Amino acid sequence: MNKQLLKDTIQQLFADNKGLLAMDESNPTCNKRFAKLGIPQTLALRCAYREMIVTTPGLHESIGGAILFDETIRQHLKDGTPFIKVLTDQGIIPGIKVDIGAKDMAGHPGEKITEGLDGLRNRLKEYAEMGLRFAKWRAVITIGDDIPTTACIEANTHALARYAALCQEVDIVPIVEPEVLMSGTHSLKRCYEVTEQVLKMLFYHLYQFNVDLEGIILKPNMVMAGTESEVQNSIDEVAKATIKCLLSSVPATVPAIAFLSGGQSPEDASAHLNAMHTNFKNSLPWILSFSFARAIQQPALDVWKGQQSNVIEAQKLLYQRAKFDATARQGKYKEEMEKTTV
Ligand code: 13P
Repeated sequence: MNKQLLKDTIQQLFADNKGLLAMDESNPTCNKRFAKLGIPQTLALRCAYREMIVTTPGLHESIGGAILFDETIRQHLKDGTPFIKVLTDQGIIPGIKVDIGAKDMAGHPGEKITEGLDGLRNRLKEYAEMGLRFAKWRAVITIGDDIPTTACIEANTHALARYAALCQEVDIVPIVEPEVLMSGTHSLKRCYEVTEQVLKMLFYHLYQFNVDLEGIILKPNMVMAGTESEVQNSIDEVAKATIKCLLSSVPATVPAIAFLSGGQSPEDASAHLNAMHTNFKNSLPWILSFSFARAIQQPALDVWKGQQSNVIEAQKLLYQRAKFDATARQGKYKEEMEKTTV
């Protein structure tokens, strides 16, 4: 393991207030999002959509790294240039999602376990040779009646630690993503308790597996009430609970935290990140940034609709959303900005 290389990759990913763009939707997830908008679910259109994203002018101003899916790293522009090269030429580091999905956990109704460890060492070797310098593995924790169970949290965080150790073996920075889902009727307090329990268990396993904490990126959820909860909290309350929870469970040696958006509106995701910076800027030991998928892509996807004629308009929206999030990383985002074009 080249510890310095891991550290350098992380600093480069988040330099100049940048964040990450998650564009690593698996084919079923990407197809689901296309289907909702009546876009045909074909290989060609998935490729065209990703081409729209990677050729967005100025994307590199706010995005330091893009997480891709196995299908996408092998695709190229219509002119034959590989997507990986298009990104690298702009100074955007390409990364790769390496888990193979959250599957039903046996004996645990309503809970999931993420799979993909078998053969991972060889896959990572290939990815490293292709120039991919960071990876992602997403674990999913659901809040409900009597869940999550300790078994589910244990199994998922144990797998995250095994994955992280394998990544570091080949100098790939692991993004460690234990996502506590937003769906449910639970309160912010319950989300806090579960997120804290998950993170504490995660860092216990990372320690057990000799993972170098200075060579990982944590990708957590924000701490907020479930989407079906009758009580929703203010932007400042979410920011406060999230920072308190992270300070209590994430070691200061971790260099960077980059949030997932989890189904929040793009505006809320920007506002929450912004409030964390404006309200807590002097007590953050880590880089605090974003690694959003839906909160960056959704407005662009809604406009693109699978039509070449909409590409320029969609790219403007993608550029703008990424810019707002980079602005939020500096605590300079304001709601009024939503009415302007950048
Ligand atoms: P969202 O921002 O849409 O939650 O996606 C982040 C991600 O990469 C999930 O694994």
